[in-house]
Amino acid sequence: MSAKKDKEQVALDALSSLCKRRGFIFQSSEIYGGINGFWDYGPLGCELKRNIRDAWWRDVVQAREDVVGLDASIIMHPRVWEASGHVGGFADPMVDCRACKKRFKADALCEEQGAKLERTENGFALPDGIKCTACGSDDLTEPRAFNLMFKTYVGPVEDDSAVAYLRPETAQGIFAQFANVLATSRQKVPFGIAQVGKAFRNEINPRNYTFRSREFEQMELEFFVKPGTDGEWHEYWVTERMKWYESIGLPKQTLERYVYTEDELAHYASACVDVMYRFPFGAQELEGIAARGDFDLSRHQEYSHKSMEYFDAESNKKYVPHVVEPSAGVDRIALAILCEAYCEEFVPRAGVEGGVRSAEPGAQPPDGYERRTVMKFAPRMAPVKVAVFPLLKNKPPLVEKAREFFVRLQGCWPTFWDAVGAIGRRYRRQDEIGTPFGVTIDFQTLEDGTVTLRSRDTMEQVRLDMDGLLERLHAELQ
Ligand code: GAP
Repeated sequence: MSAKKDKEQVALDALSSLCKRRGFIFQSSEIYGGINGFWDYGPLGCELKRNIRDAWWRDVVQAREDVVGLDASIIMHPRVWEASGHVGGFADPMVDCRACKKRFKADALCEEQGAKLERTENGFALPDGIKCTACGSDDLTEPRAFNLMFKTYVGPVEDDSAVAYLRPETAQGIFAQFANVLATSRQKVPFGIAQVGKAFRNEINPRNYTFRSREFEQMELEFFVKPGTDGEWHEYWVTERMKWYESIGLPKQTLERYVYTEDELAHYASACVDVMYRFPFGAQELEGIAARGDFDLSRHQEYSHKSMEYFDAESNKKYVPHVVEPSAGVDRIALAILCEAYCEEFVPRAGVEGGVRSAEPGAQPPDGYERRTVMKFAPRMAPVKVAVFPLLKNKPPLVEKAREFFVRLQGCWPTFWDAVGAIGRRYRRQDEIGTPFGVTIDFQTLEDGTVTLRSRDTMEQVRLDMDGLLERLHAELQ
């Protein structure tokens, strides 16, 4: 393994080990040996994902007048996927090794060996010299298309007429319901329909932890616009979406835009930009924002024989709206937030003067210092917002007072109760799950009603009474 790969692996290994230890992410069906490409989110992971979905829904749907929501079924009429092009075209070219029977994505296999998959009249071809990366054999099949949709059967008979698919994207549910939403929502073009939900792709090579999974969640917006205004709306949504990523704690310098060139665009698209995050394994896509013209609605019009036209009262004309589609993945955003939040630092032990120092993996802390792992989530994304600690668990008046604070805070934010262990260890446990604030109730609280509020990032401690505490937390946690 190269030094760079080594570092990437250390970073992902440290993160995935914390995620398992602290209940963010588990391997699906782990007790049976797991299943490749599927993941479960534990108590903290599901809160993180909920925060991502809620932030998106709040900002993209509820805070706007021109976007409405939809919750379509996962299994749809199979004609949907013929119209969308997924039955005919949603395929990766694959190569099998005849010697060791391993299967590879043809483009990835070529890329790994510094080559490029060749396009031919009928599909694809491997350039000369490409070998199996598992056993070294050059006895490889020609690239063959492999459809990524999961198939199932609807009803009791498993024949061709009962075939259906688990949706590979949420977008088609929106296009298929375009006319119903238009008729019932009193929206006028330009307007959008948003949906959050599971999508399924039988990925050949699930990898990079949860980054490429076989079951994942999408947050998609189809924003319908007047033909000819695609360019300006596309720019608008790229700008909005970049700002949104910053608002959930991914700093500008960790984000990149990948602008598609003419020959990378689908034949119907006029523009596409990917929002990329700098993961430990390289900059990779979180979201694609595409101007798709009238391709999707026109195809459904053609296949369903139902009109997808919009009557524009201003111009007194009918047209099939064009669409700009910002399409994001919840799991990839969760992974980016986890990568960004993960931090190891050396902090001075109690009573030692000195500031926080950054810690390289494996390095020993200097004298008087200890290592802490801290998840520096933006407060909006933190699964738990506040933790409450009675200084001692065997002093009933302290515990009773602390419960008063706990109940009050729990009414406002997800709050954690921890009465077990030395106070320093309790702080560290909360640091590891990224709780922005800790509130300690001690003997002074019984006398004057003040508590200690500790900030996760600065470790600064201040004394506040209940009103001061609520005011500060409301300001910091929004
Ligand atoms: N409707 C357009 C569409 O589905 P896409 O680029 O294939 O476009 C959109 O997917 C987003 O869905 C991606 O940017 C990514 O965040 C997420 N996504 C796609 N495939 C994924 C996978 N195998 N695992 C996790 N997330 C995935």
